[in-house]
Amino acid sequence: MSKFYHITTYGCQMNVHESEKIAGILSDLGYESCDDIEQADVAVFNTCCIRENAENHAFGNIGMLKKLKARKKDMIIAVGGCLPQQIGKAEILHRKFPFVDIIFGTHNLNRLRDMLFAKQHSKKPVIEIDESEGPICEEDKILRTSYPNAWINITYGCNNFCTYCIVPYVRGRERSRKADDILQEAEELVRAGYKEITLLGQNVNSYRDPETGMPFYGLLEKVANIGGKFRLRFMTSHPKDFSEELAKVIARNGKICNLVHLPVQSGDDDILKAMNRKYTRSDYLEKLAVLKKYVPDCAVTTDIIVGFPGETEEQFLNTLSLVKEAGFSSAFTFVYSPREGTVAARMKNQVSDEVSKDRIMRLVELVNAQTREISKTYIGKTVEILCEGYDEKKKCYLGRDEYGRMGYFKSDKNLIGEFVDIKIFDANGVSLMGELMH
Ligand code: 5AD
Ligand code: SF4
Repeated sequence: MSKFYHITTYGCQMNVHESEKIAGILSDLGYESCDDIEQADVAVFNTCCIRENAENHAFGNIGMLKKLKARKKDMIIAVGGCLPQQIGKAEILHRKFPFVDIIFGTHNLNRLRDMLFAKQHSKKPVIEIDESEGPICEEDKILRTSYPNAWINITYGCNNFCTYCIVPYVRGRERSRKADDILQEAEELVRAGYKEITLLGQNVNSYRDPETGMPFYGLLEKVANIGGKFRLRFMTSHPKDFSEELAKVIARNGKICNLVHLPVQSGDDDILKAMNRKYTRSDYLEKLAVLKKYVPDCAVTTDIIVGFPGETEEQFLNTLSLVKEAGFSSAFTFVYSPREGTVAARMKNQVSDEVSKDRIMRLVELVNAQTREISKTYIGKTVEILCEGYDEKKKCYLGRDEYGRMGYFKSDKNLIGEFVDIKIFDANGVSLMGELMH
């Protein structure tokens, strides 16, 4: 009998890539992927808890499986990732959803094979949450789902303890993978025909090869030196660790995309201090100036939080003015969400939902206006796109340019995985419409 699995993924790129590892483990065990959760013999929820809505979303979807499980008693339901890793959450999950068979934390992913085996031989739920991270365990059964793009973890965990952020609590201290392992993975991916590689970590700039002490910019250049045509990206960079050396490496290696994701979070010095970000507004702008000195056309994207505890209107206006000054090419914007156990969640002066909503709307309006302006500058230009998919609704192929802009174009031929030139004739918000050039 065929065995099917279904994975529901929430959260960041790290989370998406972990789902590729879970899929690798399941297919190695003989399971095949299916879109319909009703058909699945194993359903895995790979959860996120960075903001409350991600967590609520996961809780809601897991709850909906109660009826399905009542009909399909042999189906195995597993919940893993950041949500159960929070202190006390695995117990809550188990109490609320007794029909869940396996609950595992971020440090237990590579034990999934054994947990499935244990569950098949026992009626009791299997719960594995290790409080601290062990040594890095190389999982080589990754089932990649986003050709021609591939992600490679270079670091796990985070040491920064930004006061709003739960990541250091659920992903543990920062660990760097060996450069040799990373290089080998990258070489194999290029050989297998992947055209875009993204090096992943909570803070890639603090990467250090555990064997030689090589810093991130050294690793990046080594990956860029792999032969063949491909693009190289990295995320995320903490501004405090962004160095001039890194800007130089981006400048002298054509394969490294001229795009840096550099989360600023706020444009106000007192808020940055309360967030424990360890840089000021002017430090941040100086980093951008250094980057632009070496890579004048470099696009910069960012993350911004509004409504951090105590944020005044004036402080919020400082964020708006920074967005204008920095000229971000796009930004991910978030309403601050208190996370239990973090320093900020204990601060007394939480901002009301009403004020936060108003601020996020004003911020999004500004970011969108800037994004639209940049998109307009594309009209009439020819850009190189890495074709990465087909949009059924638009009946168009799509892909990104080096700066991360999404371009759509029509083609009779399937061009997924190829670099193509398109001439832009229209721009709509963040998306560009182009004509395929031959
Ligand atoms: N509330 C809102 N946004 C948050 N982020 C991290 N923690 C929180 C939180 N508690 C945002 C930051 C980070 C991005 C991945 O998520 O902007 O850069
Ligand atoms: Fe969270 Fe700050 Fe670490 Fe990013 S750098 S994961 S925001 S603690």
